[in-house]
Amino acid sequence: MLRVIRLVSFLLIGLAVGFGLKVFMDEQKMNENIDEEVEISALSAASGGETEADAATVIAAPESRPDPSMPGVAIGGPFTLVDQDGKTVTEKDFAGSYMLVFFGFTYCPEVCPTELQKISRVMELVGPEKAAKIQPVFISVDPERDDVQTVKDYIGQFHEKLVGLTGTPEQVEAAKKAYKVFASKIQMEGMDGYMVDHSAFTYLMGPDGANIALYPAKDTAEQIAEDLKGKL
Ligand code: NI
Repeated sequence: MLRVIRLVSFLLIGLAVGFGLKVFMDEQKMNENIDEEVEISALSAASGGETEADAATVIAAPESRPDPSMPGVAIGGPFTLVDQDGKTVTEKDFAGSYMLVFFGFTYCPEVCPTELQKISRVMELVGPEKAAKIQPVFISVDPERDDVQTVKDYIGQFHEKLVGLTGTPEQVEAAKKAYKVFASKIQMEGMDGYMVDHSAFTYLMGPDGANIALYPAKDTAEQIAEDLKGKL
């Protein structure tokens, strides 16, 4: 049974990666056709918005969300990253707390801010007693641009308890791998910088560091808070 769940989840992650690649290729095609300047702003919004949300939908599609728990799937594990104050942290620094983890990047135009606002709302909805047991964590998938100060400035816009982590490209890569995060750079002609297409789940990790639930981007703050109340 365990093996089946693991297999299914790998297939779904594969699907999402494939979907991400297709979107990427479609964008490349569009890029050739449309007038430069108009397209840059339109695509910036689209690749940050629709892509992430759709990828999440693809993963969540087979079941109509009866329970976001994924028992038996190995998600999470050891990581070494750097927090918003420049301090090196590992998973051990969070032991004993539930974590709500979101991977994203500070230049993300839409999905990341939306998800981080959602996490802030969840912290309010669960009430102070349960919120005290939860550590919300943002982990950058874009270490090249998201240095410590950038992350610090960014998380300041969201919940006061939110911790922001970045690191060397190798450290971030290892964390992404542990959490099975898909992220890929999208460079478009005529565009300053780049976008990062990435999976957009919120992970609930237990006090022992084990994954308890995965919330897709389509889940509302109310749904997540309700689910958390039953799990904490
Ligand atoms: Ni994003």
